[in-house]
Amino acid sequence: MTVITNIEDLRVLAKKRVPRMFYDYADSGSWTESTYRANESDFQKIKLRQRVAVNMENRSTATTMIGQPVAMPVAIAPTGLTGMQHADGEILAARSAKKFGIPFTLSTMSICSIEDVAKETGGHPFWFQLYVMKDRGFIERLIDRAKAANCSALMLTLDLQIIGQRHKDLKNGLSAPPKPTLANLINLATKLRWCLGMAGTRRRGFGNIMGHVSGVDDMGNLAEWTAKQFDPALNWGDVEWIKKRWGGKLILKGIQDVEDARLAVDSGADALIVSNHGGRQLDGAESSIRALPQIVAAVGKEIEIHMDGGIRSGQDVLKARALGAQGTYIGRAFLYGLGAMGEAGVDKVLEIIHKELDLTMAFCGHTNIATVDKRILLPGTYPT
Ligand code: GLV
Repeated sequence: MTVITNIEDLRVLAKKRVPRMFYDYADSGSWTESTYRANESDFQKIKLRQRVAVNMENRSTATTMIGQPVAMPVAIAPTGLTGMQHADGEILAARSAKKFGIPFTLSTMSICSIEDVAKETGGHPFWFQLYVMKDRGFIERLIDRAKAANCSALMLTLDLQIIGQRHKDLKNGLSAPPKPTLANLINLATKLRWCLGMAGTRRRGFGNIMGHVSGVDDMGNLAEWTAKQFDPALNWGDVEWIKKRWGGKLILKGIQDVEDARLAVDSGADALIVSNHGGRQLDGAESSIRALPQIVAAVGKEIEIHMDGGIRSGQDVLKARALGAQGTYIGRAFLYGLGAMGEAGVDKVLEIIHKELDLTMAFCGHTNIATVDKRILLPGTYPT
C-alpha cells in the first residue's frame, strides 16, 4: 500500500472504498461547481514569505475557538450523512477530535444521533449544528437534546433554507440507506469493506430525525425531504428565539457578505463562520478565503470570525489565520480520511494538517500561532 502523506492520498483511497453516491455527495458543489473549485484554488494564489535563521524551538499551534482551548485552530465541520462515508462515522470522527483536542461538530443531518455521539465519547463536549425545520416543536426538542448531551456550542446554519442543486445527487438517487436498485447493488458489490461495516451497525438512517418527527420513518430522497421539511421562512427573528432557547455559545454559519456580518453582530452571537457551504449552495459566490478579509475589516473587532471552504492543508489553515480567522473548519478533508480508513483515517488527517501547519508557521518565522498575522503573506498575492 502506498504511504499516506497528504489529504489527496486519502481522497483517492476514499473514492475507492466509499459507495459512489456518498463519495459524490461529499465531493460535489452546486451547479457548475465554480465556487467549490474557487474555494480551493484561491488559497493557492496566496503566497507565503519565507523567513530564516529564526529560533524555531518550542513551537505551539494551540489557541482558542469561542474561548475554548483547541490544539490547533481547526474544528471538524458539520457534514450531512457522515455515517454513510463509513459505519458509525460521526462517532469515529468525534473520538478522533477528542483525542487530538479539537472540536467536533455534529450535523442535524447526521446518521448517528446526538445521544449516540454523547454516549460513545463518554460525555465529552462537542458542538451541534442546527438546521431549522418547519416543525418548531421538533427544533425546540433538538436544542434541548443538544443541551442534555453536554454540547458546548450551537452552530446555526443560515445558508441552507433551500438546497442548491448538486447534479450527481440527483443522478445517483442519493438516499440513506441506499435503495436496493440494480445500479446501487452493482456498486456496493465493489465496496465490501464498507458493506461489512454497515452490516455491523444499526445506525443507517438519520438518527436525529427518525423517531423524533411524527410521520417520518423513511426520508427517501434527501433533496425532496429537505424541500418539504426545512423552513424557507427562516430569518433573523428566528436567530433571536433560538439563541434564547439555547442559552449557551452560539455560532452563525454561512456569512459571506459584510451586511449580513453586521446583522450577525447585532444578533449577539459569539462567532460567525465565513462560509459558502463548501460551494454547495450559491454557485457563483466568492470563495470563502476572498470573502474573509472584508468581513474581518468590517466586524472583526466585534465578533470572533471563523471560516470554512477549501481547506485541504495546514498551509491553508495558516493563510486563513493570517487573514483574520480565529478558527477554521475541515469538512471534505476529514470525510476523505473517514471514508478511506475510519477513525485511523481521521487521526491521520489531523496529524497531517497539524504537521503542515506547524512546519509552515516555522518557515514563516513564527513559533506561536498567536503571533501570526498578514505580514507572513506576500503583498499583492492575498485578498484584502
Ligand atoms: C448539507 O448540509 C449539504 O450541504 O448537503
